[in-house]
Amino acid sequence: MELLERDGCLANLAEWRIAALEDGGSVVLVGGEAGIGKTALLREFCTRQQDVRVLSGGCDDLFTPRPLAPLHDIARQCPGGLLEAVGSGAGRESIFTAALDELERTPTLVVFEDMHWADEATLDLLKFLGRRIERTRSILAVSYRDDDVGPGHSLRMVIGDLPRASVRRMLLAPLSESAVAQLARRASRGSEGLYGITGGNPLFLTEVLAAGDDSVPLVCVVPGRTEPWLLEQTTRPDAAGITSRPSSPSSAPRRARKRLKLRADSPKQRRNYFGDSVTGTSVMLSTGSLLSWAALRTAASLGPS
Ligand SMILES: Nc1ncnc2c1ncn2[C@@H]1O[C@H](COP(=O)(O)OP(=O)(O)OP(=O)(O)O)[C@@H](O)[C@H]1O
Ligand SMILES: [Mg+2]
Repeated sequence: MELLERDGCLANLAEWRIAALEDGGSVVLVGGEAGIGKTALLREFCTRQQDVRVLSGGCDDLFTPRPLAPLHDIARQCPGGLLEAVGSGAGRESIFTAALDELERTPTLVVFEDMHWADEATLDLLKFLGRRIERTRSILAVSYRDDDVGPGHSLRMVIGDLPRASVRRMLLAPLSESAVAQLARRASRGSEGLYGITGGNPLFLTEVLAAGDDSVPLVCVVPGRTEPWLLEQTTRPDAAGITSRPSSPSSAPRRARKRLKLRADSPKQRRNYFGDSVTGTSVMLSTGSLLSWAALRTAASLGPS
């Protein structure tokens, strides 16, 4: 799928990759809110690589985070010393050194996705590699949800400790109104109000457009505080700010659909609306999980009429 309004980002990434080959490697930080297009951008950049090896791994939102998850992912993609070190249960020092050896030996684009979910060992690995990356001709690209990474978040502290000269930063912006209109046209949909609802967030746009209905019921969630916030708010109707909204026919309970819109006071909040999921029984949240209509029915029954 063609990425809109990311040519500048792709050009920067390409420039930094050339600089890594010529002058020494770097850590590239790709930040942005949920659904802004970090994965899509990095995937597109990876597919463009011809003379550089690409290794890609990521962190998951697990109850028990897998230690060094991205490292295990990339080890499986490059059989050799790193895989042996990881597989043999070698100590942390040996594993980190094996990872650095890989990056020194072969110019590589390494992607660590979703580092806002990184466990402590992975953060140590980022610090270890980041402090030595200039010796390599490799790039370590790290994606993270910037609104999930507050001032006290360990990732922010690790990033702050990396040598400045080795770090490049990129913050992804929402799509413009004209890009939103372009995506709506592609989906054969009208674009009126779409920019205001989605704030140009590609994921929310995709969800709203995929719902296939011009009057999708929407739920607003404060950035970085998704389900817990919503559920907490629905049990405190005075604070929930649930307002009614004309609904359209659907498989979802009519009463719930009438009152599904939670108040969004700021543009940042407005950006975090979510479209009805395809199943009609749940709503997609920024974490990628689904909130059931049962929870929304609770919200609706508690909200002002
Ligand atoms: N520039 C773009 N133009 C068109 N569509 C886009 C663009 N960027 C992303 N998308 C689409 O938006 C959706 C969300 O993008 P993506 O998964 O890359 O977001 P993300 O920032 O990685 O989100 P998360 O923080 O949840 O991992 C995808 O379906 C993707 O194809
Ligand atoms: Mg992603």
